[in-house]
Amino acid sequence: MMRSAIDRISSGMALVLMIMLASSASGGDIPALIDECEACHGPGGVSTQDDVPDLAGRSAEELVAAIEAFGTYQRHCSTTTYRSGGRPKTPTNMCSVANTLTGHDRQVIAEHFANQE
Ligand code: HEC
Repeated sequence: MMRSAIDRISSGMALVLMIMLASSASGGDIPALIDECEACHGPGGVSTQDDVPDLAGRSAEELVAAIEAFGTYQRHCSTTTYRSGGRPKTPTNMCSVANTLTGHDRQVIAEHFANQE
């Protein structure tokens, strides 16, 4: 009796954990996505790297347009790597990054960086 109550509680907790893990894995987790941008574009979108442009203070329209152009491969993407945040140094590019974002992600992230100084 006692035993099965505990089993039920722990399987319920496992389910909650699985849902939490699933929702943090990809698109839609805006803070995690912003973290990823900042790993190359610098904290607050102010770049410390010569070959990575600033995102801070650009207009949201301009940022969305650029992200869309990358995400649909209309703009050339040069090969690059993550600069910080303990991420793998495997080569990637803006097309691969932009590709995983939904339209909503692009808009919210663009507005976030447009509002940074
Ligand atoms: C792995 C490093 C890396 C990551 C991660 C990254 N970027 Fe970039 N981004 C670059 C580089 C390098 C360029 C410039 C080279 C190019 O045009 O391909 C760039 C260019 C851009 C541009 C064009 C700016 C301009 O001046 O036209 C925008 C907008 C942009 N990134 C937004 C983002 C957003 C938003 C994220 C997060 C979702 C992000 N980037 C993540 C490296 C990165």
